[in-house]
Amino acid sequence: MTLDITPSGEACGAIVRGVDLAKPLPDGVVADIRAAWLTHFVLAFPDQKMNDDDLERFTLYFGPFGEDPFIAPIPGRKHIIAVARAASETGPIFAEAWHTDWSFQATPPAGTCLYGITIPPVGGDTLFANQALALERMPDDLRKRIEGRRAIHSARAAYSKQGAYGVNDAARAMDIRPSDMATATESHPFIRRHPETGREALFGCAGYIIGVEGMDANDGMALLGDLYRWQTQHAFQYRQKWSANMLLMWDNRSVLHMATGGYSGHERLLHRTTIGSRAS
Ligand code: SIN
Repeated sequence: MTLDITPSGEACGAIVRGVDLAKPLPDGVVADIRAAWLTHFVLAFPDQKMNDDDLERFTLYFGPFGEDPFIAPIPGRKHIIAVARAASETGPIFAEAWHTDWSFQATPPAGTCLYGITIPPVGGDTLFANQALALERMPDDLRKRIEGRRAIHSARAAYSKQGAYGVNDAARAMDIRPSDMATATESHPFIRRHPETGREALFGCAGYIIGVEGMDANDGMALLGDLYRWQTQHAFQYRQKWSANMLLMWDNRSVLHMATGGYSGHERLLHRTTIGSRAS
């Protein structure tokens, strides 16, 4: 089995063909996929007829399952959540803000797998921003402001009872469970070395990052704003267009991502698993 890998030509991302993910994969193919994932950060596998068992098996090739807080798993599974939106929904799109999945955890996940089941005919693309490239190209004066510093991450703006997905959130197809646990904080360095490649990248952004350790709130917010404007620039982005039966996997240690809308009146359903970290 030889993988056919086509880089996107954008800041990251590649399309992978020549493999059937509904079947167990030989070790060599898993190693090739891992190498491609670490190189391109986002891999899209179109035309994969996968069920939930296949999705779980694929995920476990790359690490243990991560822990998914605040969103209930789908019935009958412990490690799959549904990213779902009904055609009738009118509230804010889920995850339509730059973020790194669960960056507020003590050991955030290595990656995420997302499988397209019902894909709207327009819109609903997922955007990625390459954070290794954003760091490499960062002006020295901005880099000096974050070097050696730690960011304070929290899920409070999203998943606390008063958060965006809290008690006042409009009815959603997604089974989100806001909680007081979301007010907890965890700090991580702004610049992290990738545990598998050694390459440095920015980790997280304003949103889940709510402040800067050792800095007063106003100065911290000013820094987070400058950093956000730099790290989410178009030059660092990749736009993934979806099709039904596409599997996407991305490296949370190397990219930010966000959902987009533009499919009002259409249903969208994807199943998501989280690849846990072996090292932070
Ligand atoms: C996510 O952040 O996991 C959701 C991405 C998407 O819905 O495109």
